[in-house]
Amino acid sequence: MPDPRHIPVLLAEVVEALGPRPGECYADCTAGLGGHAAAIAPALRPGGRVILGDLDPGNLSRAAEAVAGAAPGVEVRPFHGNFVSLPRRLAAEGVAADIVLADLGFASCQMEDPARGFAFSREGPLDMRLDPTGPTTAADLVATLPEAELVRILRDYGEEKGARAVARKIVAVRREGSIATTAQLAEIVRSVVRRDGGIDPATRTFQALRIAVNDELGALEGLLAAVARGAKAQGTGWLAAGARVAIVSFHSLEDRMVKRAFGELVSAGLAEAVGRQPVTPGENEVGVNPRARSAKLRAIRLRKSCDAQPPGL
Ligand SMILES: C[S@@+](CC[C@H](N)C(=O)[O-])C[C@H]1O[C@@H](n2cnc3c(N)ncnc32)[C@H](O)[C@@H]1O
Repeated sequence: MPDPRHIPVLLAEVVEALGPRPGECYADCTAGLGGHAAAIAPALRPGGRVILGDLDPGNLSRAAEAVAGAAPGVEVRPFHGNFVSLPRRLAAEGVAADIVLADLGFASCQMEDPARGFAFSREGPLDMRLDPTGPTTAADLVATLPEAELVRILRDYGEEKGARAVARKIVAVRREGSIATTAQLAEIVRSVVRRDGGIDPATRTFQALRIAVNDELGALEGLLAAVARGAKAQGTGWLAAGARVAIVSFHSLEDRMVKRAFGELVSAGLAEAVGRQPVTPGENEVGVNPRARSAKLRAIRLRKSCDAQPPGL
């Protein structure tokens, strides 16, 4: 069963946008703890199939357990890896997904585990890898990147106004010794960036490094390109004709990319928007789950060849 402490973001809205039906194939690109998947899987019976993907092998097995508990009899196939590779893997196996979900970013269990090094409020190794077998940690980036590249990452991924000051300080401190823990890095940032309202000055630097360590924007770009390929293939690729694709993003950099990519498919007549765009959580949800505050859901439905041909195609 799903972990009762885990609250999937915009759950009812995601299920409504994806509209799962019996016998369909559902690809969850970011299985996490299986919260969304466990809610969707029962509607796929009889005969449905769930493909679960995640960079984090621990999360992946918890998600598989959650789905098996919620929908016994549904075929579950785990895929450990980056969702960028999932579409090609499915296409190579001749599998076409009817429903695709990507609920981006990290799961709260990853943030709360000090050993994973995501949180500036918990002392731990400066790691931040979503895939613990991945090659590069945040400590590696902080130790090796040129100052100008650190500035770019902090500015572009963290929207940190003090990017130059933080990068300069990192470079000065690393000359004296390694920056190996979350607490060390948080102190470096706090020493040069003033508190902005209630927000800890380290927030933006930690977000920026996490995005860089996991190449989160590169992965999203790859997934959006695969969705476009699938839409153009009109049911002959990794996406079935009429497939629904939903993406939940948590910051403006991601949402801008999703909005543009989905908008292009709609303008080209290859897809239609599902519901209002974007869907955001109500006050009640944010009250129970503050992390949902910045969530934005966008969803499209791919055109079927029998749909009316839009003018201009
Ligand atoms: C917000 S959580 C998903 C929560 C999930 N929807 C649920 O209800 O339990 C995001 C998950 O996506 C995974 N993830 C992030 N980027 C990924 C990528 N590029 N490829 C595969 N998994 C990724 C993270 O490891 C994390 O487990």
